[in-house]
Amino acid sequence: MAHKVLFTTSRGIEDIVVQELRSLGVEAKPRLFGLDGWVWGFVDEPINLARVCYQSRTIYRGLLVLAEGEVRRTQEGLDDIYQIVKSVDWTEWLTPEATFCVRTTRSGRHQYQSPDIERTSGQAVIDRIMEQRGNRQKVNLTYPDVMLRVDVTGEKCVVGIDFVGEEAMHRRAYRAYDHPAAINAVLAAAMVWASGWKPEEQLVDPMCGGGTIVIEAALIARKVPAGFFRKENFAFRSLPCFANSDFEELMFQWDTGADWSVSAKLFGSDVSPKHIAGAQLNAERALVADTINWQVLDIADLPQIFPKGSVQLIVVNPPFGVRSGSVARAKEAHRLLIQVADEVLSEDGKIVVITHHPEWLEILIPVLDFSVKQRYSVLHGDLPAEILVICRKTSSEQSSEVHGS
Ligand SMILES: C[S@@+](CC[C@H](N)C(=O)[O-])C[C@H]1O[C@@H](n2cnc3c(N)ncnc32)[C@H](O)[C@@H]1O
Repeated sequence: MAHKVLFTTSRGIEDIVVQELRSLGVEAKPRLFGLDGWVWGFVDEPINLARVCYQSRTIYRGLLVLAEGEVRRTQEGLDDIYQIVKSVDWTEWLTPEATFCVRTTRSGRHQYQSPDIERTSGQAVIDRIMEQRGNRQKVNLTYPDVMLRVDVTGEKCVVGIDFVGEEAMHRRAYRAYDHPAAINAVLAAAMVWASGWKPEEQLVDPMCGGGTIVIEAALIARKVPAGFFRKENFAFRSLPCFANSDFEELMFQWDTGADWSVSAKLFGSDVSPKHIAGAQLNAERALVADTINWQVLDIADLPQIFPKGSVQLIVVNPPFGVRSGSVARAKEAHRLLIQVADEVLSEDGKIVVITHHPEWLEILIPVLDFSVKQRYSVLHGDLPAEILVICRKTSSEQSSEVHGS
């Protein structure tokens, strides 16, 4: 039987998630009902959802969808939520001994808050099971066997079983050194996916901080599941429906696609020796130190390392000048990025950059005969940002500009 699933991700990268899910054998559709950060799919068996949650690098969570419906934004919306949650036959998913809790993500304007949704939904589960089986199901807010999610976005409500758990999948568990402005690993992986990079091509992050982008690229090249370093930390492990599953054995099978012998061309540099030492530590933890070269380097000096045209891809998260450092220095780092890229990139080379200030790049891009091929509007923490895929203009693009057509 096909089960509907909902994957949550970072707003703006839904199309990239669909590509990755397809590569993992799941047909998916982005933004059903036009909702940002939601990707829908189907799996034949719940265990397949567990596998995809373990392997995917671009999702936050995967939910097995049990009910969905429309809810009002007024106080009466809580009655709608109660009815939707109560419509599910919870005895199929919760044995009498199993504990549960409800977690909520709410976005949009409502006359109720997330704790109201959690309380109402928990009561609906308890009432339904009491009517059907006569036991009062136990709640455990800290270590539940089953974590239910009731997510409300605008007037849409989705009820499901969370297969990932309290810590979403951007927590990879290899980060020993925390850079103060580190990019979320889900966004870093999405940038590498958006680039279409292949391990034999030279990938450079010249402002790499704690190394997230380069490390994610190495793990993608080696096809290492995102959950590899957090095997114990998955909500699906305690679900009663998997009571007879041996997750040590299953995860061992899910890991067999990984090829630790792949050697990728990866280079990360940063002006700060402290960040480079941190990046090295993170790469060692992620078991990819052997395939990455790190160097303390000002981006202006990158052409001293890479001869003209020798780099196929720059993937980078320059400073935004918001959390630390000055705006003037951040702007200068953006300028240097484009100038240096023009020197080191091959004719078919690309820059994939995440920035809070696309306008700083857009002024320079046409001057140096680059053009923006793709644009994803995302959130970097709580800051609006754009991921831009920038390529050199083709000769026909250049000549059509000269001739004004
Ligand atoms: C937003 S952080 C990158 C964070 C990184 N993506 C991570 O996940 O840890 C920007 C980095 O650019 C570096 N940086 C700033 N100006 C630079 C320059 N001129 N040359 C090289 N690195 C520079 C900073 O030291 C900082 O680590």
